[in-house]
Amino acid sequence: MDNEALNVIYTRRSVRSFTGDAVAREDLMKILRAGMSAPSAVNIQPWAFITVTKRETLDGLCERLPYAKMLDKAGAAIVVCGVPDKDAVYSGKYWVMDCSAATENILLAAHALGLGAVWTAVYVDEERVRNVRKILNMPDNIIPLNVIPIGVPKGKGAVIDKFREENIHWEIW
Ligand SMILES: Cc1cc2nc3c(=O)[nH]c(=O)nc-3n(C[C@H](O)[C@H](O)[C@H](O)COP(=O)(O)O)c2cc1C
Repeated sequence: MDNEALNVIYTRRSVRSFTGDAVAREDLMKILRAGMSAPSAVNIQPWAFITVTKRETLDGLCERLPYAKMLDKAGAAIVVCGVPDKDAVYSGKYWVMDCSAATENILLAAHALGLGAVWTAVYVDEERVRNVRKILNMPDNIIPLNVIPIGVPKGKGAVIDKFREENIHWEIW
């Protein structure tokens, strides 16, 4: 593969097994910068990011999120939050797409830095939204879209090629 950026995109996988080692603050800052580099409707950027590194908080999230049990060995987590009130016209409609674009950038940046990460769903499950808000002291107008556990990968996951020719239509359906 001769293009570094494409190689990162093609080889990213969800990582759910971590060594338990910490993630450097410097790496987290790079990952957050990648998140904020995402496109958003009319460039409103209706997002906020809660970065969690304290073991106690990671464990609290782990306990409350049924599909995020890998948090027990993650070195950090980023909670991607929607801030729909940033703009009355656009962000109310588009915040999920905007925050999803930011999330993918975060996943790619983590992978580019040799770390592992996985999108774990919070929104639209009301109970999970309530629990994450409570643990992280979030106001009601901020919506946690997901929790992204990040850590040093344990072992080397296989790269799976998901390219499917049949998903492509040229010119017409
Ligand atoms: C909206 C969304 C929600 C997801 N929620 C979870 C989750 O709660 N827990 C989890 O382990 N993985 C979750 N995933 C990760 C998917 O399972 C994963 O992306 C998919 O199996 C494809 O594997 P890959 O990411 O390795 O290509 C989620 C992914 C998306 C896009």
